[in-house]
Amino acid sequence: MDVILIAAVTQDGFIARHPKETITWSQDLNLFKKQTLGYPLIMGSRTRACIKDELKGREIIVFHRKDKPKDILKRLNTKKCFIAGGGKTNSKFISYLTHLFLTPHPMIFGKGVRLFTDEIKEPELLLEEILPVNKERGIYQYQYKIK
Ligand SMILES: NC(=O)c1ccc[n+]([C@@H]2O[C@H](COP(=O)([O-])OP(=O)(O)OC[C@H]3O[C@@H](n4cnc5c(N)ncnc54)[C@H](OP(=O)(O)O)[C@@H]3O)[C@@H](O)[C@H]2O)c1
Repeated sequence: MDVILIAAVTQDGFIARHPKETITWSQDLNLFKKQTLGYPLIMGSRTRACIKDELKGREIIVFHRKDKPKDILKRLNTKKCFIAGGGKTNSKFISYLTHLFLTPHPMIFGKGVRLFTDEIKEPELLLEEILPVNKERGIYQYQYKIK
């Protein structure tokens, strides 16, 4: 099964200004919807609380501190699933990821929630594809395979 982390990031590696921020600055919502439709979306409880949209057509699995990533993934019967943040949840799933879909935005926050909030082992990334999100603003989604 492909386990894909998908995120919009700033140029300095943040995914939110603070843990309660609802992400309204992301330009890749349409692509996010298209790519995740029909697949399970795993997200942390704080991220779930920040999302107002109902995320129709996707099974939402909310990750809590007592949960084990391995057990959640083992229960899934699907070709792929998506890890959709936040930084704490991304860190917990790092060793199970097969792909990273990252969309860097032309923004700098200086502080906030990082893509990975906890210490992680450095992964090796292989670029597989670059998809345009907003060409005029130079926003592209970078798809990496994790070796
Ligand atoms: N830019 C993007 O693409 C993007 C994507 C996703 C999310 N975000 C943003 O990321 C932010 C949230 O990220 P986040 O990292 O704060 O939260 P998160 O990963 O969404 O959720 C927090 C997780 O950490 C656990 N946790 C909380 N306190 C803990 C503690 N003291 N010890 C151990 N585990 C603990 C929670 O478990 P419990 O449920 O048991 O408390 C939950 O599993 C939001 O602003 C959201 O909008 C941005």
